[in-house]
Order: sequence, then C-alpha cells, then structure tokens
Amino acid sequence: MKAEYQKIESALIHGGIYGDATTGAVNVPIFQTSTYEQRGLGENTGWEYSRTGNPTRAALEALIAELEGGKSGFAFASGMAAITAVLSLFKTGQKIVISSNVYGGTFRVLDKIFKPMGLGYAIVDTTDLSLLEASITPDVAAILVESPANPLLTVTDLAAVSKIARAHGILSIVDNTFMTPYLQRPIALGADIVIHSATKYLGGHSDLVAGLVVVDDAALAERLGFIQNATGGVLGPFDSFLLIRGIKTLGVRMDRHVENAEKAAAFLKAHPAVKRVYYPGLPDAQGYEVNRRQAKNGGAMISFELYGQYDIRRFFRSLRLIALAESLGGVESLVCHPASMTHASIPKEIRDKVGITEGLIRLSIGIEHIGDLLHDLDQAIQQSEA
Ligand SMILES: Cc1ncc(COP(=O)(O)O)c(C=O)c1O
Repeated sequence: MKAEYQKIESALIHGGIYGDATTGAVNVPIFQTSTYEQRGLGENTGWEYSRTGNPTRAALEALIAELEGGKSGFAFASGMAAITAVLSLFKTGQKIVISSNVYGGTFRVLDKIFKPMGLGYAIVDTTDLSLLEASITPDVAAILVESPANPLLTVTDLAAVSKIARAHGILSIVDNTFMTPYLQRPIALGADIVIHSATKYLGGHSDLVAGLVVVDDAALAERLGFIQNATGGVLGPFDSFLLIRGIKTLGVRMDRHVENAEKAAAFLKAHPAVKRVYYPGLPDAQGYEVNRRQAKNGGAMISFELYGQYDIRRFFRSLRLIALAESLGGVESLVCHPASMTHASIPKEIRDKVGITEGLIRLSIGIEHIGDLLHDLDQAIQQSEA
C-alpha cells in the first residue's frame, strides 16, 4: 500500500507503514497485544513481545524516521522517557553540553538523575558559537540543543552545532519539539539524534503523552533499540495509533498555527502595554536570519512581557478563551508562566541569568479564529492594568 509522493505533506499521511496490507484498511490497526503466539520453539512471526516490538508502534517509528529523514525511529511513553533513553547512551565520566534555555525537565533529569550517577553537564549559551566551541573539553560526549529554545525562543545555528560536534568526534542532539519535521529537519542540517516530545505538535490535540527519537546511523540505532527494550519506557499501541492519526494533519495544523502566531506576534509587538516580544519570525528577533535559513518559518510559540504597571496574575485570571496550562502544540491556545510552571525546576539564579523573568508570559498559539485570540489577549491586558 505504498503510495508515490514527493512532498512532506503527503508523507505525513502516507509515510512509514501505511494502512494494513492484509485487509486493505487505510489505517494501521491497533495491535492491542502484549505477546504473540510462536509456532514452535524459536519460530516466531517476527514479533515476540510488545516491549521489544509492536506493529502499531513500528508503523509510528517508521513514519517519524521518514519524516525526519533518518533511518530509525523509536517511540517512548513521554518526551522525558525519550530524552532519558538518549542520555543512557552515555557513560560515567562523560559530559553533555546543553543550551541554556533547554526544557526544565531535561535539565532536571540531568541534574537529579544522571549527575549523581557520574554523567555531568555544562550549561552553555549555544547561540554564541565561540562559547560553544570553548566548552568542548575532552570529556564532552554530546551537545544537546533546542532551537527555538524554551521559553525565550532563542535560535541556535543547528548546522554550525553539528559541524562543531563532528569536528570534535562527538554527537549533536536536537530537541525538535517546537518546530516538528514539517518546519525544520535537523538531520539534514547534520544532527545525529532528533528528539521530540510528541505530546505537543505531533500529537496536536492535547490528548496523549509521547516521545520520539530518530537517528540516521545504524550503530546508534542498534544501541538505542537495545536501550529502548532494556529500559522499557515504550509507547503503547493505542497512543501510537493516536499519534499516527495526529501526524496526518500536522501540515494543515502547522500552517494555521503559524499564520495565527505571525498575526499575534505583530499584534503584541504593536500593543502599548507590551514591553517585549520574543518570536523568531519577527525580523528584529535574535537569530532571525539563522532561523530563516534552517526552518520554514518562526513556528507558533510566542513569549512576551508586559510593562511593570500590568499585573500578570490578573492577566492570567482574565483570559476567557486561552487556557492557563502546562504544555503546548495543541489545537487550542494555551498560556503559561515559565518561571513558576515549565521552568520552575531550574534554580532562580539560573532563570534570572538567562532571562526567564517573573513577568515572562509564554503563548502556544492554537488554530482558533485569530480574531477571537487577539480579542482575548487584548481584553485580558486591559483587565490587568493596575
Ligand atoms: C522542548 C521539550 N522537550 C521535552 C519535553 C518533555 O516532554 P514530555 O512532557 O512529553 O515528557 C517538553 C515538555 O514540555 C518540551 O517542551
């Protein structure tokens, strides 16, 4: 049931393992099974046990590998399980360089789980390539970056990071959650490993928690496959099905997310109450040119700060359409307060240093009518004036 196509919009729908060849079903069945009957000792159908492999999960893994332009994909029970599996590639005595705005949970797992076991980390402003280059000591085994990074939407030059990693014989890892392969493909820019919290845009409907990893190298794929099976944080068949279903509409959703975000960023930028807007699609944004080179557009995440006379607690309480909630990337618009929510696990002194201030507001722009979104933002800003 392999269709012929050229473009990612079609790959989103027909990619990986499409449908079910035995019945002609256009959707991959949900193989809700933990095990598979064997014909005799050592004679299995290619499937043995669902931690090791499940056909619904395998279809998702093939799909994300194709979309990211890698050879192998791996599906996990959450983005953090995916990140934990990737970090399990490394050993005591080694160190990972992470970008300073990395997701709080990534910092937390490194700081609280891996560091006590001897895998160190160094926090570096990866937007400054000379700082990055200088941070590569002999014990550094990998560079892990997000671009745009959470929550200040800072852009890191992914091709340059991969080049530096390659020159030092270390791995480059990109968390591509904010962009998705529809907007940015890190493997084509030289990355070794791509990670997703598929909970966000890939799932797209705020109805599942999932993580994905893609690699292009066979040896790396074998090691990750071993870790996935050995540690067992796999995605179940039903959530794998939901994710395949979500990915089919990624293209049309992202187009609308971005169209709305560009309008919302322009609206906030022109608003007299708004002190600062962070959006990589604005020409005066940090890394605008780099982002234009490596991504299709600026994505759909926006952060902003109101002037001091506006009370942000009242702003959050006054919103009538946009929900105050953790997470991002769903069809519905969400707002969050990074300092007390997504980035609370980062110590305040580090937060202050990197610009995650108490007044910072982060928006995940959904696909509602832009008029309703702008109206909600405007009325909540008006209500919050002290
Ligand atoms: C950029 C990024 N990476 C990883 C994660 C962790 O993913 P999950 O919540 O699916 O475990 C998140 C979650 O917010 C994220 O925003």
